[in-house]
Amino acid sequence: MRKVQDYYYKKAKKDNYPARSVYKLEEAQKKYRFIKSGDAILDFGCYPGSWSIYAARAAGPQGLVLGVDLQEGKKVSIANAAEIIWFCDDIMADDIVGKVQEIRKTFRVVLSDIAPRTSGNKWVDQQQSLHLARRVLELAQKLLKNGGNFYVKVFEGEDFREFVDSVRKSFKTVKIVKPKSSRSESREVFVLGVGFKD
Ligand SMILES: C[S@@+](CC[C@H](N)C(=O)[O-])C[C@H]1O[C@@H](n2cnc3c(N)ncnc32)[C@H](O)[C@@H]1O
Repeated sequence: MRKVQDYYYKKAKKDNYPARSVYKLEEAQKKYRFIKSGDAILDFGCYPGSWSIYAARAAGPQGLVLGVDLQEGKKVSIANAAEIIWFCDDIMADDIVGKVQEIRKTFRVVLSDIAPRTSGNKWVDQQQSLHLARRVLELAQKLLKNGGNFYVKVFEGEDFREFVDSVRKSFKTVKIVKPKSSRSESREVFVLGVGFKD
């Protein structure tokens, strides 16, 4: 297992990405193509920036990536890719929709690789992850364009099915994705919603 992790760590270094988590987005994008050229993308939990950089390349120069994280990212500019704007904030903050909409009103894609600070207690971590994923869904319902897409990390466990059912109510197609680059012993999976029903 360590070998697999080292493989992705080294690959991210070689490919010039700040984190190996990029392959958890790349794998899903290669299979489902939910980011399209020209898309405006909202990336929650964007720090240190791999998903934003990958998404900016997938969207191309006509696109836009807006990233939000508790941690401050250093500004980057990628040739032949969408503009990337990062701002530092908590997605739980009451005024987050207004702050995002000062930059752009609606988006074609909402991504979230947000992970809670782990406590060591699996049940607590899973509940915290679900709480964050539910918040991301609530924000997506306010900020996605009709027909838009959603890709969010969540720890599997109690109430996970209920979360997936609530995603199903808002999207035409829903898939549960477990990328190869995600450790098999980790309970993280990704819920992909395609075709937002406004
Ligand atoms: C696994 S990292 C994201 C890695 C990123 N996708 C990349 O590829 O570089 C998870 C991030 O979620 C952020 N996060 C956790 N809780 C948050 C919250 N309430 N609001 C905003 N960001 C949060 C953390 O600060 C952390 O940077």
